[in-house]
Order: sequence, then C-alpha cells, then structure tokens
Amino acid sequence: MPIDMSPYIAGHKEILTSLSPDRVLTIQLNRPKAYNALCTQLLKEVSETLVQATTDDNLHCVVLTGGLKNFAAGADITEMADKTPVDVLNDSRQLYWGIIRNFSKPMVGAINGFCLGGGCELAMHCDILIAGRTAQFGQPEINLGIIPGAGGTQRLTQMIGKSKAMKLILTGQFMSADEAEKAGLIAEVCEPEQTIEKAQSLAAIIAKKPPIAARLAKESVLKASDGLLQEGLAFERKAFALLFATQDKAEGVDAFMNKRKPTFKGR
Ligand code: CAA
Repeated sequence: MPIDMSPYIAGHKEILTSLSPDRVLTIQLNRPKAYNALCTQLLKEVSETLVQATTDDNLHCVVLTGGLKNFAAGADITEMADKTPVDVLNDSRQLYWGIIRNFSKPMVGAINGFCLGGGCELAMHCDILIAGRTAQFGQPEINLGIIPGAGGTQRLTQMIGKSKAMKLILTGQFMSADEAEKAGLIAEVCEPEQTIEKAQSLAAIIAKKPPIAARLAKESVLKASDGLLQEGLAFERKAFALLFATQDKAEGVDAFMNKRKPTFKGR
C-alpha cells in the first residue's frame, strides 16, 4: 500500500505530513529557509494535527522531524520583536504548547542539524529522540536577552542534569549529537540520512503494540517527572514573559535581525 502524502489536515502549509499503512503519521516541519523556525502558524498546525491524531484509530504513533537539514532553530525571532510581556502572557502559543505537551500517543523525534531554543524544547516533548551525527542541540535564548520559555529550563535539567543544562542555558553553546546521547538527551545517533527512516521503523514497532497499553505506558513514564515539572514550568513562563520588558531583549532581537553583535546593558 502506498504512503498517503495528502495533507493530514487540508490547508496546512508550514508542515508536511504522511500517514503510512503501519499507522505511523510523520509530521515534517516545513520552513527550510528559516531553518524551520517555529512561527505561530507552524505551532498551530502541529497542534491541530495532534488534536486530530488523538482520536484517529488509523494511527498509533507519530514521528516528528524537520527533515534532513535542520530540526528547528527555535521560535521565529522576527515574531518576537514587538511583543510585550502582556502579549507573551496572552499568546496563543501557550495553548499550542499545551496541546503538544498533552498529546497522549507515543511520539518519536528524528533530529538533524540545528535543534535550538524552542526547537530543542519541541524535541524534548517527543518521547524518544533519534539524531543524526551532525545534529546540534542548544538553548541559546540568552544571546537574545531572554531564557527558554517552553519548558527548556526544566526538561533539559531533568534530562541531562543541572551542570550540563546550566552550561547550555547560560553560555548559549551547542551540544553535539554524541554528547547529547552520552548525556541522555537522545536515545540513538545515526547517519543523518538515516534519521527519519530509523525513527519511522521504531515508530512502526511501537504502532504494532496494543495502543491503550502504549498510551498508558507513556503517561506513566511521564509521571516520573511531571509532578516536579509543573511549578518550574509556571515559574519559567513568568520569567520568560518578564524578560520581554527588558532593553536587553530588544537589543538581542534587533542584533539577531540585523546580523550584528548585541551590546547588553543589564536594563
Ligand atoms: N527565527 C527566525 N529566523 C531564523 C531563526 C529563528 N530562530 N534561525 C535562523 N533563522 C533564519 C535567519 O534569519 C536566516 O534567514 P535569512 O537567510 O533570510 O537571513 C536563515 O534562517 C539562516 O540563518 P543564518 O544565516 O543565521 O545561518 P547560520 O548557519 O549562520 O546560523 C544558526 C544558524 C546558528 C541557527 C543561527 O541562525 C541562529 O543562531 N539562529 C537563532 C537561534 C536562536 O537563538 N534560537 C532561540 C530562539 S528564541 C526561542 O526559541 C524561545 C522559545 O521558543 C520559547
């Protein structure tokens, strides 16, 4: 049976989807020119897809990928320029992140290239990560005068430990796929061109398992850390919003958009 390449939801443009006969839905982020930066429309399309996938008995497992070049270089910085703290608090993005966080079926991430900021946070919402050898992980928000705002400070710390998480979050430096595997962020490293195939094979194995057991297994594993997460996520969200009132955020975003080095003043 051929793979169905028609859009899972008509009209979606920022993602590509394919549903395979083995009940695996692949979602590919599709803004290659912007390194798959997570604009609000893209997040909306991902979350709408997951809402529909939740009740679709034709699919048991999801693969989330950015394709062969980059997973995602973070939130779309061009959308952040004029946002105030109130805009951040009222942002529909919170709703979309909530849907992604609560998706109940197993989700395997296939990561190549840059996996940064909101991109790394999106990857950490997957249940298993497979990465190409050249993938790079990071939370470089500090270079923009802000911090991760979709759970990065919490999930990264839980997954790789305080010291390594602090190193990435405070310096903005990147971690290689090999380091990420050693640190426990990802399950497996492979050649970049095999990443999607490997993730789909793994997803096909999972899709053959009894779906209710798979769903409850996922929920149970997440319970190992969920209780501790909630308070930290709420704090991070408020701190993230607060930083949108700083001159340093305005400077960091302007510097990125104008391809120059920022000068931060602690204001
Ligand atoms: N948002 C918008 N556009 C982005 C982007 C982003 N996050 N990342 C890359 N792009 C765009 C660039 O503007 C550029 O577009 P043009 O060709 O039109 O100029 C294109 O993608 C390629 O980028 P570069 O020319 O910079 O490519 P590079 O190879 O020299 O560097 C990079 C690649 C290291 C990923 C660099 O682009 C970069 O540092 N990007 C920003 C990473 C970042 O700070 N992410 C965090 C964002 S904030 C966030 O994520 C918070 C949150 O969700 C809660």
